[in-house]
Amino acid sequence: MVAIALRNRWRRRQVPEDLRDEIAPKNIIMIGPTGVGKTEIARRLAKLAQSPFLKVEASKFTEVGYVGRDVESMIRDLMEIGITMVREEEYGILRSKAEELAEDRLLDILLPVRSTRKPRRNQVVVQQHDNNVEIEVAQRTREKFKKMLRNGRLNDRDVEIETQVSAIPVVEVFSPAGMEEMDINLKDMFSNIFPGKTKRRRVKVPEALEILLQEELSKLIDTDKVTKMAKERVEQTGIVFIDELDKIAGSRSSQHGPDVSREGVQRDLLPIIEGSTVNTKHGAIKTDHILFVAAGAFHVSKPSDLIPEIQGRFPLRAELSPLTKDDFVRILTEPRNALVIQYQELLKTEGVTLEFQDDAIVEIASLAEEVNERAENIGARRLHTIMEKLLEDISFDAPDMDGVTVRITPEMVRERLREIVKSDDLSRYIL
Ligand SMILES: Nc1ncnc2c1ncn2[C@@H]1O[C@H](COP(=O)(O)OP(=O)(O)OP(=O)(O)O)[C@@H](O)[C@H]1O
Ligand SMILES: [Mg+2]
Repeated sequence: MVAIALRNRWRRRQVPEDLRDEIAPKNIIMIGPTGVGKTEIARRLAKLAQSPFLKVEASKFTEVGYVGRDVESMIRDLMEIGITMVREEEYGILRSKAEELAEDRLLDILLPVRSTRKPRRNQVVVQQHDNNVEIEVAQRTREKFKKMLRNGRLNDRDVEIETQVSAIPVVEVFSPAGMEEMDINLKDMFSNIFPGKTKRRRVKVPEALEILLQEELSKLIDTDKVTKMAKERVEQTGIVFIDELDKIAGSRSSQHGPDVSREGVQRDLLPIIEGSTVNTKHGAIKTDHILFVAAGAFHVSKPSDLIPEIQGRFPLRAELSPLTKDDFVRILTEPRNALVIQYQELLKTEGVTLEFQDDAIVEIASLAEEVNERAENIGARRLHTIMEKLLEDISFDAPDMDGVTVRITPEMVRERLREIVKSDDLSRYIL
């Protein structure tokens, strides 16, 4: 479903314009027990989507008027992410130009242009010629310095440069609920009242180059264009992932205590999900085409405990089934950053080679499944506790094991973990 939703955004952008506005994204709720990978999907999605992506926890929000974050802040945050994203891309385009300018400025600092010497009385005739020679020498020196700079041979040198320092003392502006906008505006205002002062600093050449580069970049960049592009991208391709949605679903029977405020949050969410305009410091953002993906374990409350309007605004429901042994085997080995690889790389830093036999992995997976069945089902997180326990001694002794190869066999896994798994009491505490 997530894949389809993502692809549909791209499809929508190809259809005729008059239809395009009418095609609203189908928001998704992912339902599944803890540790089945709901948040993991969001994390992967963020990397793949290449569009402004924000992950928030529903439990963080409070109803407007209470202390805490208001739901509109997620659109403001999304816009910030969009701005950063577009700005980075623009920086990429402008970088080589800015690098040249920064280099020039640094050379100016390293080789101050000497004022033409006063002609000495008996040299008047040769002065013109002398001047030309001097310019040529200066140019050659500059070229030489440029080469040295690029080869990093000036890296140990100090230079004195002017840097901008903000005149505002670092004070956290106190921001009551829902007034982050004001907070931001206050900070902007202050920086307008006290424009940045410059300060002379002695720094090493590479740092100076970096500072100058940043200055040149911010001079070259067209802020209005960035804002416009970011707005477009956020409105058309933005994705908000609302995790822990079940935490704001109060059971309908108990209409007291925190439930009231939970419903309030849901109510505040409605217009944003349906499509409304949220004011940010970069301008108004329309939320009509932002994709919302929500997730929750929903084992205490059910999706039907959400207010009906919210339910209706998430037409797609995806259920993630509990993970089995086979899933665990795949989770342990297939991802590029799989747990097994993580441990191997960590121990490699100590000179220890860690090898896992295939059937040892299967043994780990089946132990994980067993503990999940006997105790609490915590999904793939169980693999973390089991792996940690299994490799505890090796991890501890590794600094004294340089050059050693450790082979994890199924017997080893059984020997180290059987007893703990067998005893319910032990596994409850240890795994
Ligand atoms: N299908 C999967 N593939 C790879 N890794 C997974 C998978 N499912 C879970 N994991 C791993 O398990 C751990 C927990 O997963 P995740 O945080 O996504 O759980 P969750 O479903 O969000 O649970 P909760 O409801 O408690 O928030 C993560 O470290 C993740 O890397
Ligand atoms: Mg989660």
